Amino acid sequence: MKHSTKSSNRLVQWIDDRLPIFSYAEANVIAYPTPKNLNYWWNFGSIAGIILVIMLVTGIFLAMNYQPNADVAFASVERIVRDVNYGWLLRYLHMNGASMFFIIVYIHMFRGMYFGSYKAPREILWMVGVVIYLAMMATAFMGYVLPWGQMSFWGATVITNLFSAIPVIGDYIVVWIWGGFSVDMPTINRFFVWHYLLPMILVMLVVVHLWALHVHKSNNPLGIDIKTPQDLMPFHPFYTIKDLFGLGIFMIFFLFFVFFYPNFFGEPDNYIPANPMVTPPHILPEWYFLPFYAILRAVPDKLGGVIAMFAGVLILFVLPWLDTSKVRSAAFRPIFKQLFWIFVADCLFLGWLGARPAEGIYLVLSRLATGYYFFHFMVLLPLVGKLEKPKPLPSSIFEEVSKNCRTKED
Ligand code: HEM
Repeated sequence: MKHSTKSSNRLVQWIDDRLPIFSYAEANVIAYPTPKNLNYWWNFGSIAGIILVIMLVTGIFLAMNYQPNADVAFASVERIVRDVNYGWLLRYLHMNGASMFFIIVYIHMFRGMYFGSYKAPREILWMVGVVIYLAMMATAFMGYVLPWGQMSFWGATVITNLFSAIPVIGDYIVVWIWGGFSVDMPTINRFFVWHYLLPMILVMLVVVHLWALHVHKSNNPLGIDIKTPQDLMPFHPFYTIKDLFGLGIFMIFFLFFVFFYPNFFGEPDNYIPANPMVTPPHILPEWYFLPFYAILRAVPDKLGGVIAMFAGVLILFVLPWLDTSKVRSAAFRPIFKQLFWIFVADCLFLGWLGARPAEGIYLVLSRLATGYYFFHFMVLLPLVGKLEKPKPLPSSIFEEVSKNCRTKED
């Protein structure tokens, strides 16, 4: 078998002849042909990858000092922050990193929705993304339980109890998840095990995600297919530099919170050790779950709420088929573009409502916002795709890029 690495280094050549990792990196990272017109919205995938690594590294070092034992878990986290060398940094990077991970991945997902990146032939790429999102949610939920503060304990109690809504077997499932008759010693232990294991599965899922990405290559802001080699340019140095620049800006944002407001995204109640005898006045999940929490509480029936909440995430799997338009990018879809922004506002509004008490006007608004969420997917997207008249598409990426360059020169 012939390999394409052109290295003059004999050791590199020797290794590559036996295990072609250098040719593989050359083909998939260095020379990797990428559309010429990617904008900064295409930075977020690589930032998500970096933050995943930051979470893994800080998590492994935290685990060296953390005790998954209900009697000492809280104290072990305090010890990490106060006594372990740079323990405060490890914890604040990990804690704020979780919020950053969700901010980045939410932008990454909305980018995909705006530019129609989920459409053929990238449906599996998108669906693997949704599996990644589910795995991230499970990981974050279990991680939040580990410091064993009041919110950890009560959040875990409320969320695991949701499974009791399942008819007949619900109560058994809850006991099975807990490993006992309440959230307790066995629960914290198994949550720690899963919290350590799931990120490894996440890494594998990201590999599959990138594999699928490289089959048809990236979509682009115009949403049109790659037609000629002129539409493409090598990933390195053009996008390595652009990604590094974006990463630099992101790190400033991230570290600003780590060093100046480390508890900004947190809940003060979680600095009170878990107490099964005292229920906090407001039990709130982390901010990134709030839109789904609002959906859960909007439905009067418990089982109905649980179904609606899961449906809110799972509907993303069928998004490629709900959107019937042949045109990908919102830039050429005037009606869809407006609906997209209304949908973003609806999600933010749901998030805000998720943190309000489930009563009075908030409950009415939650019901309206939940209704609109599903209306967007199940009615608007299929209809607009059929009825809307898209703007004419450019003939190629190359044409459009050259036109823009000419306009800038004039
Ligand atoms: C650990 C989390 C994730 C990582 C590390 C990751 C990584 C990446 C990377 C590096 C790219 C190429 C660069 C870019 O387009 O930004 C990409 C593309 C993409 N990702 Fe993700 N991703 C993650 C989560 C998700 C999720 C949750 C979804 C959707 C539910 C998703 C959907 C997509 C789609 C559709 C593309 C193709 C975009 C295009 O070419 O226009 N990803 N991802």
